[in-house]
Amino acid sequence: MDLITPLKLSHLEPVAQGAQKLVFRHPDDPRVLVKVVNPRFIERRDRKDRFYQKRRRIGHHRAFAREMIEHLVVRALHPGRLAPCPYMQNILGVVDTDLGTALLVEAVLDENGDLAPTLRDLVETNRFGPRERDALEEFLDWALDSNVLINDLSADNLAWHHDGHFVMIDGLGDRAGIPIRAVSPWLNRLYKRKKIRQLREAIEALQDAD
Ligand SMILES: Nc1ncnc2c1ncn2[C@@H]1O[C@H](COP(=O)(O)OP(=O)(O)O)[C@@H](O)[C@H]1O
Ligand SMILES: [Mg+2]
Repeated sequence: MDLITPLKLSHLEPVAQGAQKLVFRHPDDPRVLVKVVNPRFIERRDRKDRFYQKRRRIGHHRAFAREMIEHLVVRALHPGRLAPCPYMQNILGVVDTDLGTALLVEAVLDENGDLAPTLRDLVETNRFGPRERDALEEFLDWALDSNVLINDLSADNLAWHHDGHFVMIDGLGDRAGIPIRAVSPWLNRLYKRKKIRQLREAIEALQDAD
């Protein structure tokens, strides 16, 4: 894989997208995803908040920075360990593309090698059974007990790994201007409890909508 020549993505179809990012499969390795901030999102944000954006040093890369910091926080807990944390998306690096700076991440895949379903996909297609429910509880226990910061624990940000566990693929880190949860484990836990409660409510609402 050539990591130095800027990647050409603009002629490719994204395999997924959320409110903020476009997600592509790496042209040289389908196990790798390339995430860029959606240019439309940048345009909209800049129009809305011109003054603020100009003053922000890291600008639209903030979302990447948040994810990377949490990734490194977890690695710092186990220095020297080779395997990444199973509950968090594995970040492989930062590269340039013709759609701007991108994060290279390990794809969570299903048994056919396609992009894994999210928790939302599972619930919406009635595939959220006892095995998936137990795996979600296991993930939530880890999320609460670990020192990672979480800001967006939505059903779109958890991917179902076919070996039977959930992986958080977005929504890590702290969005607050003053990152107080990073220095207060108590506040961090309190906030995560709230996020977990809200996720449970969201799952119930998705099930009721059936
Ligand atoms: N590592 C990954 N493995 C599998 N699917 C992923 C991965 N990262 C993202 N996706 C898919 O792409 C979607 C959008 O990616 P995400 O990083 O959540 O962007 P956004 O910030 O726009 O929400 C996710 O909801 C998920 O369906
Ligand atoms: Mg997302």
